[in-house]
Amino acid sequence: MQVAIDGPASAGKSTVAKIVANKLSFVYIDTGAMYRACTLIARDHDLEYGNEKGILAAIDEDGIKLEPGEKGQKVIVAGKDVSLEIRTPEITAHVSEVSALPGVRAKMVDLQRQLAGSTNVIMDGRDIGTTVLPKADVKIFLVASARSRAERRMLDWQEKGIEAKQSLEEIEADISKRDYLDSHREISPLKKADDAIEIDSTHMTIDQVVDAILTEIKKKQ
Ligand code: C5P
Repeated sequence: MQVAIDGPASAGKSTVAKIVANKLSFVYIDTGAMYRACTLIARDHDLEYGNEKGILAAIDEDGIKLEPGEKGQKVIVAGKDVSLEIRTPEITAHVSEVSALPGVRAKMVDLQRQLAGSTNVIMDGRDIGTTVLPKADVKIFLVASARSRAERRMLDWQEKGIEAKQSLEEIEADISKRDYLDSHREISPLKKADDAIEIDSTHMTIDQVVDAILTEIKKKQ
């Protein structure tokens, strides 16, 4: 069984995907983390974020691996756990530029399909239902208003003890900018697959979203 969860930034995809994966003992794959790892590699090799050739060579040199971790999935670059480093504002600000490079996408999509293999998998991203796993059994398109996504992001930082250096308005503007870039790139832009079920989580709790997804999966089991 393959479950694809796509949607804009900070819609809660990874939170609900992890819970669903745990409940059903499915493998969880966070594809955003892979594009973040590519962005980190570009930075660490002092490459311009648009330097496709350089970034592809650096990815080959360092290698990106996903390993199961206590909190879901660990991202390993050049043998080092970079799971936290890929979430910094600096990487977040540049990831849409790196993820728009066709060669980088081709490499990551290959890796994602290999990782999915023939196991029960739940994968979250932007193009899973449209491109990576077009034959996924269940496709969810998870959306929420930009304001509520910004509020959740801020709450998340507070809970983790991270000092918010931006106002709510600034966080919302950053989220909207990333959505715009991800939806308007040439190759596999963020888009609802024709056969995806849209869930608007603006006024839903995490548990309600999880239940809605589990209901869709049960229909196909
Ligand atoms: O999901 P997350 O916000 O961590 O994704 C970071 C970025 O990676 C997105 O803004 C997007 O540019 C890129 N991405 C993508 N395709 C995916 C997953 C993420 O282009 N399947």
